[in-house]
Amino acid sequence: MCGIVGYVGSKAAAPLLIAGLKRLEYRGYDSAGVSLLNGGAQVQTRKAKGKIAMLEEAVGGSPVTGTTGIAHTRWATHGPPNECNAHPHHDCTDEIAVVHNGIIENYSTLRKRLIEKGHTFRSETDTEVLAHLIEEAFDGNLEDAVMDALRLVEGTYGIAVLSTRDPGKIVAARKGSPLLIGVGEGEYFVASDVAAILQYTREVIYLDDGEVAVVTTDGYSVCDLKARPVGKGISRIEWDLDQIEKGGYDHFMLKEIFEQPQTIENTMRGRLVVEEGYAKLGGLNITREELQNIDNMIITACGTSWHSGLIGELMIEEYARIRVETEYASEFRYRNPIVDPNTLCVVISQSGETADTLAAMREAKERGARTLGLVNVVGSTIAREDDGGVYLLAGPEIGVASTKAFTSQVVALALLMLTFARRRDMSASRGREIAQAMVKLPEQIQEILEDAPTIEIIAEQFKDATNFLYLGRGYNFPVALEGALKLKEISYIHAEGYPAAEMKHGPIALIDENMPVVFIAPHDSVFEKIVSNIQEVKARGGRSIVITSRDEPALEGLIDFEIRIPETLEMLYPILTVIPLQLLSYYIAAKRGLDVDQPRNLAKSVTVE
Ligand code: M6R
Repeated sequence: MCGIVGYVGSKAAAPLLIAGLKRLEYRGYDSAGVSLLNGGAQVQTRKAKGKIAMLEEAVGGSPVTGTTGIAHTRWATHGPPNECNAHPHHDCTDEIAVVHNGIIENYSTLRKRLIEKGHTFRSETDTEVLAHLIEEAFDGNLEDAVMDALRLVEGTYGIAVLSTRDPGKIVAARKGSPLLIGVGEGEYFVASDVAAILQYTREVIYLDDGEVAVVTTDGYSVCDLKARPVGKGISRIEWDLDQIEKGGYDHFMLKEIFEQPQTIENTMRGRLVVEEGYAKLGGLNITREELQNIDNMIITACGTSWHSGLIGELMIEEYARIRVETEYASEFRYRNPIVDPNTLCVVISQSGETADTLAAMREAKERGARTLGLVNVVGSTIAREDDGGVYLLAGPEIGVASTKAFTSQVVALALLMLTFARRRDMSASRGREIAQAMVKLPEQIQEILEDAPTIEIIAEQFKDATNFLYLGRGYNFPVALEGALKLKEISYIHAEGYPAAEMKHGPIALIDENMPVVFIAPHDSVFEKIVSNIQEVKARGGRSIVITSRDEPALEGLIDFEIRIPETLEMLYPILTVIPLQLLSYYIAAKRGLDVDQPRNLAKSVTVE
């Protein structure tokens, strides 16, 4: 997804901006560019298709100088990824440069109107209309022109703009696409993601929708689109830079898989009260009475977060006895859902910026539901707009394939379930049993991680497969979906997840010696049933990889590969069974020589519909 960095200060801006862009590489992008002011009549811009290294080459070949600049990584939405469509975009006279995240929905009408007025367009992007609108409105002051332009625009944006006609200044604005200001000493930054500027400052100001910031070497100011000043507080970022680096692993994804004993511990810390068998969730912002009145829940999310939501649904229905529906956020926002004041809408998102999830949350709110965000990125839009929330505290997740966020989401959902269930009819002893099992999870994950070499051997056997089937039942059906998603997104192998018993209703036709089948079969209440499904695969010559939790005579001679995990409670198995699946996908993708952290066509945070 697109990324923005801007700098105003006394240092050479180009190296700072390029270093900032490199920190945003994990978001996924296809081209990059940088624009600087050097006191001349025109903005100096360099762009390149492909990796930041290509941009560095372009800047090396034709250096740009100056202490004020903006830069961008683009993930194509309008027009193919090429140098011309890369940001920054200019006005007709190259005096204004704009970088933009988001989508200008009325761009074709605006473009037509601007062409009629004599403007010349050089790219196919929606963004370029912004540069020309600002040019049209410019009357000596850049922020006024930006505000005039934005009033004509429909859609979403996070933008940073500079101009030779109002130098030493960056104007930034946000609607629906994250943007923040970094406060340094005598220098200021603009960024779409804190990772871009963390090496320079920890003090940030998050812009909200409808706000415009003006940043110069003398300071910053924030106002709304009507130029009315807005007071903003400074937040301090506690993440360390080495937390967003690879820490000796070949890929971020592998590092993040191995972090999970620690990250789920962080999710539980200070929240799980083991002796009492309940959870203290400080950010729910809900009275005891309101909590009591909730009689139905909607869980909404996308991708991996949706899979964790399915597990949350099972836990909450089983123990808290509240009716739960888990919905794809992209579907929820376009239907006519039944929501009432006793509905709690739980919104799950690692990034807190996923456009569909945010829109679903707003829709639920609009219809009167109370919203609760389970979000990882602190200060993200969902976290700021929800009525209450539980931060996952999993730290920055850089790999596009979500791993540690998933396990933290399931843990957070278990905590939420305990909060509700203990206020209803769950006994303290049952709550305690669950809490005691939860505290063992970090150690149990560690045990599975120590078996990574076995999983790597299995990956070697299957790295050239073209199809995979993942089967699980009950709590492990969502894990089957997650295992299949993980494999397809990073290894480009076709994979499907199914409830194991559904296999006989169709997918069984696919089974032969070329179709590896991964069974998620820990020793739980449906174990016996799944053994029959394993037999069905064996009978048709299929090869099976079985994740299970104890020596089981019933499996002898039946399976090709076994991955052993420790035993836990049925509802907690997904937190363990998903670990071998994450490793299996990782090793298969790595052995296929693929770009594990930035798989093709994917972005870490999907901020477009
Ligand atoms: O940031 P979010 O949790 O809202 O993201 C939702 C999905 O885009 C995300 O989980 C996606 O499916 C991942 N690439 C899965 O690994």
